[in-house]
Amino acid sequence: MIRPGQYVRDLLQGSPGTSVTAHGWVRTRRDSKGVHFVQLSDGSSFQDLQVVIAEGAIEPELLRRVTTGACVRVEGELVDSPARGQKVELKARAVHVFGAADPASYPLQKKGHSFEYLREIAHLRPRSTTFGAVFRVRHALSFAIHRFFEERGFMYVHTPIITASDCEGAGALFGVTTLDLANLPRTPEGAVDYGEDFFGKRAYLTVSGQLEGEIFASAFTNVYTFGPTFRAENSNTPRHLAEFWMVEPEMSFCDLEGDMDLAEEFLKYILQYVLDHCRADLEFFDKRIDPGVLGTLELVADSSFERITYTEAVRLLERANRSWEFPVRWGADLQSEHERYLTEETFGKPVIVTDYPKEIKAFYMRANDDGRTVRAMDVLAPRIGEIIGGSQREERHDVLTARIQEQGLPLDAYWWYLELRKFGSAPHAGFGLGLERMLMYVTGMKNIRDVIPFARTPGHAEF
Ligand code: 4AD
Ligand code: MG
Repeated sequence: MIRPGQYVRDLLQGSPGTSVTAHGWVRTRRDSKGVHFVQLSDGSSFQDLQVVIAEGAIEPELLRRVTTGACVRVEGELVDSPARGQKVELKARAVHVFGAADPASYPLQKKGHSFEYLREIAHLRPRSTTFGAVFRVRHALSFAIHRFFEERGFMYVHTPIITASDCEGAGALFGVTTLDLANLPRTPEGAVDYGEDFFGKRAYLTVSGQLEGEIFASAFTNVYTFGPTFRAENSNTPRHLAEFWMVEPEMSFCDLEGDMDLAEEFLKYILQYVLDHCRADLEFFDKRIDPGVLGTLELVADSSFERITYTEAVRLLERANRSWEFPVRWGADLQSEHERYLTEETFGKPVIVTDYPKEIKAFYMRANDDGRTVRAMDVLAPRIGEIIGGSQREERHDVLTARIQEQGLPLDAYWWYLELRKFGSAPHAGFGLGLERMLMYVTGMKNIRDVIPFARTPGHAEF
């Protein structure tokens, strides 16, 4: 087993003269007169460990198997490195090849591959430079998320993956069933009889843990859930996945202002965390993927977000004097082009838009006194558009009942959600951050399929 202190990351900080053992995969090998250079990676850092094998140090037969993609163990001594950008390199004394990789057929060659091609080899792409960086940043962001909430006394709650209720009321649900699709049980009326199904009723993969999060916020005050969520919307865009990870805090005794304050503080905190802990990875993105991204992140980490109402946003868009693909009109949802205009051209930073028309938002958002809008907020980020969606929740039993009916949703499915408003109802609010949208923002990667280990999109569920 590799113990802390033996990761490539640690070895790179080691002192010359130390005897060490390194494990990893060969990224490249370069042969020069009397010496062979092997770049070794174990995924622990952006930088590889340079292994130097002197001619004759190991058997020629063994050396022939040390090729790109091979998995090896190297024993030797750390020595001062004459090469630029690294303090030490590993002078090999003994090499063991765990698994060779045929150089002719290894799919991950040194030449730059397209991201499309790399998606087809998602079992190997984590070993590439770009995806190594993406997944290290993904890990760091996830850790920062937990740390942010821990420092603020939030309780982490595991909300269910399988559910019988549609949180967003949008109907983009994946059904979960054990019924034999070729031989469905029928009710006397001829409908599918889900009473015969595993759960005795229709069940789905969750689109959001919010409703159950609200249950816990009514007992533990401040909570968050962080897990996979599923949407069967057939939108083949660079910003949509059928399976993605969402972070959802829920706070009792909190209104929309408090919700926005937390969202802004949260985004800046996790941004600052990756700036502090993933420097080399971010510098790579800045150099190779999205020039300028690093500077933007640093700027955003200590600027304040713009806050405007939906009505103001519509006014700004109308005044823009543009021919929009989707016409701007009060009551219509903001499209990606509108979100980008506001964040990139009008303000040049993240923008929080509040108080959307009730018709285009979910049933649980608190109704404003104007009768037309709800206490919703979307955080929009340059390039990405919506990165966070949240709201103050409707805590009034009668208003909520009316809203559920207004939207044509079945009241009985939400009986327990309504009961929370009957027994000790509290003003409360929360939001959801799409982890992959955040990763796109941080890394500058342009397709959401390239910031999740194994993307699920219409027609794709390989791996
Ligand atoms: O705006 P959404 O739909 O909000 C909710 O689900 C609320 N229940 C959250 C809450 O208040 N607790 O989704 C929240 C975020 C979006 O802003 C976006 O970042 C991300 O989830 N998201 C997606 N990410 C990738 N693929 C998709 N299909 C996504 N749909 C939403
Ligand atoms: Mg939304």
